[in-house]
Amino acid sequence: MEYVNILLGLLFACFLVRVVFISLRRSKRVAPGPFPLPIIGNLHLLGDKPHISLTQLAKRYGPIMNLKLGQINTIVISSSVMAKQVMQKQDLAFSNRFVPDTLHACNHSNYSVTWIPVNNSQWKTIRKIMNTHIFSGNKLDANKHIRTKKIQELIDYCHKNGENGGAVNIGGATFRTSLNLLSNSIFSKDLTDPFSNSSKDFKELVWNIMVEAGKPNWVDYFPFLQKIDPQGRRRRMTDYFTKVLHLISGFIDERIKEREMGNHANVDVLDALLNISPEEIDRNHIEHLCLDSFVAGTDTSSNTLEWAMAELLKNPHTLEKVQEELAQVIGRGKLINEADVSKLPYLKCIVKETFRIHPQVPFLIPRKAEEDVEFCGYIIPKDSQVLVNVWAIGRDSSLWEDPLDFKTERFWESEIDVRGQDFELIPFGAGRRICPGLPLAIRMILVTLGSLVNTFNWKLDGGIAPKDLDMEEKFGITLAKTQPLLAIPIPLQLLGY
Ligand code: HEM
Ligand SMILES: *[C@@H]1O[C@H](CO)[C@@H](O)[C@H](O)[C@H]1NC(C)=O
Ligand SMILES: *[C@@H]1O[C@H](CO)[C@@H](O)[C@H](O)[C@H]1NC(C)=O
Ligand SMILES: *[C@@H]1O[C@H](CO)[C@@H](O)[C@H](O)[C@H]1NC(C)=O
Ligand SMILES: *[C@@H]1O[C@H](CO)[C@@H](O)[C@H](O)[C@H]1NC(C)=O
Repeated sequence: MEYVNILLGLLFACFLVRVVFISLRRSKRVAPGPFPLPIIGNLHLLGDKPHISLTQLAKRYGPIMNLKLGQINTIVISSSVMAKQVMQKQDLAFSNRFVPDTLHACNHSNYSVTWIPVNNSQWKTIRKIMNTHIFSGNKLDANKHIRTKKIQELIDYCHKNGENGGAVNIGGATFRTSLNLLSNSIFSKDLTDPFSNSSKDFKELVWNIMVEAGKPNWVDYFPFLQKIDPQGRRRRMTDYFTKVLHLISGFIDERIKEREMGNHANVDVLDALLNISPEEIDRNHIEHLCLDSFVAGTDTSSNTLEWAMAELLKNPHTLEKVQEELAQVIGRGKLINEADVSKLPYLKCIVKETFRIHPQVPFLIPRKAEEDVEFCGYIIPKDSQVLVNVWAIGRDSSLWEDPLDFKTERFWESEIDVRGQDFELIPFGAGRRICPGLPLAIRMILVTLGSLVNTFNWKLDGGIAPKDLDMEEKFGITLAKTQPLLAIPIPLQLLGY
């Protein structure tokens, strides 16, 4: 009897030691981070500029932090070395998305390439279609006349505004250009006319979607609120998505009819998508892909252009230098042709420097750990949200000299590029989830920026001195400029040539 008691006692002791040991080991191996308060966890530390707050916190806790946002365990990665680990070396473990609640509206998360998991066969198919039928070099070359036309319209708009010394709202104007550029590539149709606001509805819709997706939502931190939707976020998003999807659906119906009549040339992205068999990509996926493109492609591009222009106006000698390059290679007053871009290294440096200091998706699109993952000596618990702080990496003083200065020359002799190979500069992400629209975005931004500065000299509105230009950021889903950039265009061809 005694023997059995001793045995049981021993077994129990072993068990206790094991439990204590495991829990010690576990708690030791979760990444460091600030102490969470009851219920809210670390939510109070985010503030209204979380990219800055989390950069500050990383200075204290290091390049991998574990935070508790409400009920959601969140990992924040803040160094290029760890970013590479997440997106290249252990890519597969972090390739699925953490889906914000608003994105479930209209079943979007079930059909959108941005949100479906990578092991869903549709994800692979759609990515392949995008790479071969939409964003390949050949396809983009084939429809570059569309972009040239839209950029010409932007320049005309600036001319008209500048005639009597009026200023141009750079962000607003380039937003319309990006939106029309995309809608023309996809449907061969304008969604907004720069000279009237008859269809400004659509711009507003896209804008509202960005706002709704970007604002913090209690439901994301406290999933038990999902059914209640206390802030009405999902309800409003359903309304916006329904409107856009309805519009897109109308275009598709129209096109299908035209194709049945047989007098339609295959020109745009919609045709390419309709040419693919419905087993590969069905109507739902096509509609949600169009929606994705408008949401992912407009604000990101136009904000980048606005920041680039703001930096050039703040740094007049950089502007002079790129104007010199353009005058020599292209000839003053002319639009930039996409084929000429390879001959404009200084313009490229400006765009890279803009991406470094003003990355438009500061945490990338959130990733998720599907299982417990061992990572750099820590455990990342299953279902954690994983954020890569690209903003912090772009301003890391161990990677960049004078990181807060806009110094385009740093890229002059450097091979670093934004295509997901150099983890110091990943404004488009990296790995299998890298932004598929990258090739289009780069072309569009280089050509638009080049054309704007090659056709005009620019002066800040209201007599603001360059050094006084306000460069405050506003955190939404993208990093917009708080004060819209207003600049007066002065046509360059009047200066002779
Ligand atoms: C300056 C312009 C742009 C920037 C900075 C940008 C940035 C990004 C980033 C950071 C991601 C997440 C990558 C990751 O998780 O590693 C992404 C994903 C995505 N982007 Fe872009 N993007 C831009 C333009 C575009 C355009 C023009 C389109 C399409 C027309 C587009 C479509 C998408 C899509 C569909 C995804 C999701 C891909 C997936 O999850 O598999 N983007 N983008
Ligand atoms: C979403 O999908 C479910 C399940 O198939 C379906 O019942 C529902 O009607 C869909 N909702 C919308 C808005 O399409
Ligand atoms: C769509 O996703 C929701 C979760 O957001 C799920 O409940 C539903 O069954 C899905 N519908 C389809 C058609 O897959
Ligand atoms: C995809 O991955 C998820 C999560 O790991 C899993 O639950 C699901 O069964 C997988 N689906 C397929 C089709 O493999
Ligand atoms: C543009 O919008 C303003 C205010 O919303 C309105 O007063 C004006 O008539 C509109 N112009 C056109 C051309 O629709």
